[in-house]
Order: sequence, then structure tokens, then C-alpha cells
Amino acid sequence: MSPLAIEPLHAEFGARIAGIDLREPLKDEAVEAIRAAIDDYSFLCFPEQPFDDERQLAFTRRFGAPEPNHIKLGREGVIDYFGTIGNVKPDGSKHGSRDKHTVFQTGNKMWHSDSSFREVPTFVSIMCAYEVPAEGGETLFVSQRAAYARLSEAARDEIEPLIAIHDYVFSRSKVAPDAVTPSHAASLPPVRQKLVRRNPRTGARNFFVGSHAREIDGWDYDDGRRLLDGLLDEATGTVHVYAHAWRPGDLVIWDNRCLLHRGSGYDADKYRRYMRQTRVAGAGPTLAE
Ligand SMILES: [Fe+2]
Repeated sequence: MSPLAIEPLHAEFGARIAGIDLREPLKDEAVEAIRAAIDDYSFLCFPEQPFDDERQLAFTRRFGAPEPNHIKLGREGVIDYFGTIGNVKPDGSKHGSRDKHTVFQTGNKMWHSDSSFREVPTFVSIMCAYEVPAEGGETLFVSQRAAYARLSEAARDEIEPLIAIHDYVFSRSKVAPDAVTPSHAASLPPVRQKLVRRNPRTGARNFFVGSHAREIDGWDYDDGRRLLDGLLDEATGTVHVYAHAWRPGDLVIWDNRCLLHRGSGYDADKYRRYMRQTRVAGAGPTLAE
């Protein structure tokens, strides 16, 4: 039995786990229990965890290799394991809704799996919330595992062997034509990902789509789009969505192997939002899973 006090959040996935202090050095059994909860629940919220960057990075490393932020790496060649989500600048002031920085983050309003455009996509994202808007700013999540389970057997058989091409420049070109700098684009060529993934521990299958999925390898473009859009629609129906309303002190872990998420927006002129994100890289390319 898990030593964690697990409280489910949604009929299909998600759990809230109180009664553990993640700032303390964790015993191996606690890390194992969290890993098992990730496999079973996909989304975990640990409330009232007042973190800082140093502790967050140490916590992240317990789950695998931290993933360098692709924007800093692609634009500046700098390795930084943190991403800032929200509108608070390093000097403490904030970006407004029309700042390029805020507009660029609107790409996160499309359903996606973090770094699905990388050959080794993200395993889990870890987010610590520090400042949250008084209204709006929820992050929405859906399970592609639950959605896969709703497919007919024929549909599952059809998608089992397929490969999708994921492309960051494709998804960001919908935000703005100049959203991706040339060096950033060159650092992220399109990659091939299995359309059906399997949890290595439980064997549970899910499809793997989202905004970066451009087409199906070897298929006519429009046929591939129809399939990808149909799977996305299946996954993202309103009843299947869990909307996470952030509170300061939330530490959230989500499994990008099987969840999709998106931002819901907030008034960046009126409110401050400051969250720090780290990611753990996946175990390897999906083609080798
Ligand atoms: Fe994301």
C-alpha cells in the first residue's frame, strides 16, 4: 500500500497528496511511492510546499535527469533547467498582456505535451506556484490514456503502428511567424514519435498527440491531420478536463507521457503570476519504447 495520503481529483486521473514535506531530503521509499503515484494518477498536487529553486532542482533530480530549457539553449546556447511561467520578470516587475513575452506564452494555450518536439520528450514537469492571479490562470489537463481506452478496438489497432511527426516550428507558427528565432528553429528539427505509448511499469497504453504533432509519417497530410485532430477532440471533451486552480505553495507534477495540458489565460495587465518549472527528461526516444 502507498504510504502517501492520496485523494483523487477527477474521475479519470489526478490526485492531491497532503501530509508530506517535499522540502526535506526524501527517503528512497517516498520517491518510489511518488513514482508509482505518477504511473497511476498522472497528475499530482502537493499543497503547501513553500519551495525555492535550489530545493526544486534537488527534488527534480530524484526523478531523473533535468531537461535543459530549450528556449535558452536554442537561442543563447545556455543550459538552464528552469522555465518561468507567468509575467513576472527577473527584476520583480511584470510584463503586460501586449508584451512579446506574454504573446509568446499564448502558444501554451494549445493542448500539448511538454517537449514532444524533442527526440527524447519530457517525462514529468514539476511546477512550483509562488504568485497566482486572483481570477483565471487555471491550467487544464486531460488524459490521453483515458481517451485511448474509449476508442474502439478497430481504432486502437489502426493507430498502434503509426508514427507522428512533431514539430515545434509548426506549432509556434500559429502564434506568430517570428515566434521562433532562426537559431532556436535550427536546434529543434522535426522528430518522429510513436503515436501509441505504453507505460513501462503498468503496461497502460495511451495515444500521444497535441499541438506539436504535425502529421502522420507516410500518410497523406490531410488524412493525417484528420486522424490527429480526431484523437485530440476525443481526449479534450469538457467532461474529461481537470482544471487546476493554482494556489501559492502548490507543487504539481504531471506525466507528459500520457497527459495533455494547456493554459487558460489570465489578465496579465491586472495580475501577477509567477511559477517556476523544471522538467525531467524521458528515459529515451519514444521509438525505442
Ligand atoms: Fe507546457
